[in-house]
Formats: sequence, C-alpha cells, structure tokens
Amino acid sequence: MIKVAPSVMCADYMRLGEHIRAVEEGGADWLHLDVMDGHFVPGFTFGADLIKQLRAVTHLPLDVHLMSDRPLEHMHDYLGLGIDMLTVHAEATYDLFRCVATVKRAGVRAGVALNPATPLSVLEDILPELDCVLIMTVAPGFIGQSLIPSALKKAGTLVRELKNNNMNHIQVVVDGGVKIHNIEQIAAQGIDGVVSGTGVFQLEDIPSGIREMKRRSLH
Ligand code: DX5
Ligand code: ZN
Repeated sequence: MIKVAPSVMCADYMRLGEHIRAVEEGGADWLHLDVMDGHFVPGFTFGADLIKQLRAVTHLPLDVHLMSDRPLEHMHDYLGLGIDMLTVHAEATYDLFRCVATVKRAGVRAGVALNPATPLSVLEDILPELDCVLIMTVAPGFIGQSLIPSALKKAGTLVRELKNNNMNHIQVVVDGGVKIHNIEQIAAQGIDGVVSGTGVFQLEDIPSGIREMKRRSLH
C-alpha cells in the first residue's frame, strides 16, 4: 500500500488543528512540510516556529522539504526540532555530501529532491548515503499544478534501478499533482510514497480521501 504524506502548506491555516486531526484519522503516514525561501522558489511558506508547534500536537513523523538556496546554512533551524526527515534540493547546492552528512549527524533521515528537469544521474555518487529521494512531479513553488508525466516516469526508472542494485531500502516519493484520480497510475511505478497537497486538503472528507488513495494504490 502506498504511503501518503499530506502537504501542510495546502491546509486551511485557519483550521490547521482540525486539518491535522483529519489526516491523522485518515491514516496519513507523515506530514510533509514545505519550507520556501522566496529565492530558490518564488514564494514563502512557514518556518521553524510553526514546525515547533506542529511537533507538539502530532505524533506523525515530520518531513521538511527545504526549497531553499544555501541549504547548509538554513537546515540548522530545523534539525533540532524533532523532525524525522529533511530533504534538500540537488539544484540548490554544490555540496550535497556535506548537506546529507550534516542531516544524518543530527539523527535525522536525509533526502534529496530533484526538480522535473533534473536527471537521475546527479544522484549517482550520493545515492548510497540517502534515506529517500523526492522526485518533484511539478516545478516546485506552487500548489495545485498538474503532474508532469516525464517526471513520474523518472521516478519509476529510479525505483527499478534501486531494486536492481539491492538498494530498495531507499524510499522513492513523488511530490506534486498527486490526486485520488491519478494514484493508480503513480502506484503502478512502484513508488513508496506520495506527497499530496490540494489532492488531500481540498477534499470534502479528508480521512476518507486518504483511505481511498491507499485503497486505489493496491489496484
Ligand atoms: C510544491 C510543494 C508540494 C506542494 C504540492 O512546491 O513541494 O509539496 O505542496 O501541492 P499539490 O499536491 O497541490 O501539487
Ligand atoms: Zn514538497
């Protein structure tokens, strides 16, 4: 069954507590927290203060998707907050090894994210060090975009490569444009998990929607 990580930036902030309870009730596997710096991507979202508050009200694992330039400087704001995973963008740093090592030294699982146009080859050397690869299936920065099919295909290629090299302990997760109606197509690529923002939080009944995603992933 596919793992579902709701993206908190798409929740209704005026009803955030209620929305967190709803995804917990639906069996969400972790919360995905998009941190944007207004530079690597155009918009801003939230930072350490909100994440600290979330940590206090939910037992779900927290995964910070750091969409920021100079991740090595910014990651320290998040590593001590009790988060479970931190993902940096391959495009945002020339020193992925140091980023990943710093995350792991803090006892946090390390992920690397790839934008839709970034090839898998950039992962070649770093792959054995990773806990997760986040394949962006939209250009990061905006919610509610449509999934880019070539990026999904790339995620499927990575899943197969990891399997062939006995590295399938490394999670492959796709982020962007994931909805109930395309989950079967995504799950068919053998992906471990999905991040879904508007696909979860704009539903009338959030818990049933998450359960439905998981159910359809088995087909
Ligand atoms: C995009 C973010 C995503 C976003 C997904 O920049 O990384 O996590 O919240 O939103 P949807 O699911 O609506 O594409
Ligand atoms: Zn994200």
